[in-house]
Amino acid sequence: METTPPGVERNAAPIIHGGEAAALEAVLPGGQWGHGEVTDRFEAGLADLLAVPDVVAVNSGTSALHLALRAVGIGPGDDVVVPSLTFAASVQAITFGGTRPRFADIDPDTLAVTPDTVLEALTPDTKAVMPVLYGGRAVDLGPIRTTLAQQGIQIIEDAAHAFGSRTPGGPMVGADPDTLTCFSFDPIKNLTTGQGGAIIPRNPAEAEALRSLRLFGIVQPKDARAGLTSYGIQGPGLRFDLSQLNAAIGLVQLEHFTEVAGIRRHLWRTYQAELPGLDGVHLVDVDVTHTVPFNCVVRLDRRRDEVFQRLRAENIGVAVHYPPNHTQPAFAPWHRDLPVTERVAAEILGLPFHPAMTDDSVRFVVAALARAVKETA
Ligand SMILES: Cc1ncc(COP(=O)(O)O)c(C=O)c1O
Repeated sequence: METTPPGVERNAAPIIHGGEAAALEAVLPGGQWGHGEVTDRFEAGLADLLAVPDVVAVNSGTSALHLALRAVGIGPGDDVVVPSLTFAASVQAITFGGTRPRFADIDPDTLAVTPDTVLEALTPDTKAVMPVLYGGRAVDLGPIRTTLAQQGIQIIEDAAHAFGSRTPGGPMVGADPDTLTCFSFDPIKNLTTGQGGAIIPRNPAEAEALRSLRLFGIVQPKDARAGLTSYGIQGPGLRFDLSQLNAAIGLVQLEHFTEVAGIRRHLWRTYQAELPGLDGVHLVDVDVTHTVPFNCVVRLDRRRDEVFQRLRAENIGVAVHYPPNHTQPAFAPWHRDLPVTERVAAEILGLPFHPAMTDDSVRFVVAALARAVKETA
């Protein structure tokens, strides 16, 4: 009997390298499970890899978005341009502060906003643009950067998918000094801490503001407070720090990041080589040379839902990322027509994509997809 190759039943999954349990065991006995020296080392490791002066680690990608918006002063009455085709977290971070999401349409080939779709969405109240780096691909807003800056509009990237990617001819995602970048390190992301995230501040003052916001508005490190009877609270604050337990996992994952990035690129290229024979199936290009792919998404000319059901019935881990946000009840007040998003949202299908898969896994998925497409034609 033919055996099923690894990982095809899951759309996404973390990879465990082996050192994570020992790293946790080293932290556990100390009892300091909140932010601590291991978190600081993780921040330094991230800064090193991205070649940036500083990184502020937080407890999720969602927290990173909340803090970034707050740190640059986005608040009630402001508009933030965001694509509808993203995870709810991007939009919830905007609406939570009484800010309005202004949904922008996307390029059907990249599933991300473009300079033109951003310009089309601007309003007199727009204070920030939040591009989402779908699938890990960098979004280049270079052509409208000056226009945005002249209007006092900040760029806050939702780079949850894009850790390790690079802008063609430019720096790594996160290293652009004019953009405030937010990463997610949840279990299925390119880099994981179990749960976590990070913001790449653009200057020391922004780093300090973010550190204060992430931990109750208190900036003195814990050791500096030892033996004191008081501490200073300098502003609003949350409890969004990254625990040493998560940071310990992150440090092990970071050691293996180059290897994981290579596996992801290889898997994506294997799909790229195997898919072209399929009628009515179009691979969404992630620009694999510059990107560490987070997913592998195709667009189907017809009957996406039926193909999805057939593959699920064969225990193939397909998924749809994402149901658009502008048609969700929670975001009805900000609905606007987005023709490309609406068309593409009915066509996209995410194929199983994670580092435990092999070339055989990819071929197995493609063969099942070919059958499903043929049977629904
Ligand atoms: C595009 C996007 N933005 C934000 C997030 C939120 O990240 P987290 O799950 O770490 O809060 C995610 C992750 O699920 C995401 O995919």
